[in-house]
Amino acid sequence: MKGIVFTEFLDLVEEKFGLEMVDKIITSSDLESEGAYTSVGTYRFSEMLQLLQHLSANTGISIDNLLLVYAEHFFGVIEDSYPGLLATYKDPIEMLSSIENHIHIEVRKIYPDAELPTFKVIDKTENSLVMDYKSSRAMHHFGLGLMNKTFEHFNTTATIELEKIKEDGTEVRFIITKN
Ligand code: HEM
Repeated sequence: MKGIVFTEFLDLVEEKFGLEMVDKIITSSDLESEGAYTSVGTYRFSEMLQLLQHLSANTGISIDNLLLVYAEHFFGVIEDSYPGLLATYKDPIEMLSSIENHIHIEVRKIYPDAELPTFKVIDKTENSLVMDYKSSRAMHHFGLGLMNKTFEHFNTTATIELEKIKEDGTEVRFIITKN
């Protein structure tokens, strides 16, 4: 997992819960990096999982909800860092249906070792989209947060339903309807 995902995560934890919480979740985890992340480095996903598990245990907020809120913050990072990529799109459905064959392809050019999910478009109309998410990391709620913010970016909203295809969340169907 890319360092920027860790540095932005710990920044948000500090902003919301304070530096003590950052220290607490780092010291209670067994981290090869010892919690020292740089935005250009690459670290094990298991480190993120431990940080999330400890933050969840200390705050009582579920990992899914932590990932949802974190993704909404991360969209702002994307807007600041890759404005050109977002400017390619005029419509949220067009943008979301292009993650797999355009957006994440560009991401991979910047970070060849990025660990990305796959999104398969099952059905698409002008106002709706059904897409299947697949990833061993089961970060579907990170996807949900990015999707919410994608609609907000285009000054609109949508109803997004998640249907687990696999119980462990490694395969999830997103049913998206523009409001
Ligand atoms: C992961 C970039 C749009 C879904 C990532 C990662 C980056 C990235 C850097 C982390 C890779 C790693 O740590 O190895 C971008 C950029 C985008 C974009 C620059 C737009 C310009 C989206 C959108 C979605 C999405 C709109 C909506 C669903 C995900 C998910 C992951 C991810 C779910 C987590 C990894 C996983 O589930 O396996 N993306 N992304 N991305 N991205 Fe994107």
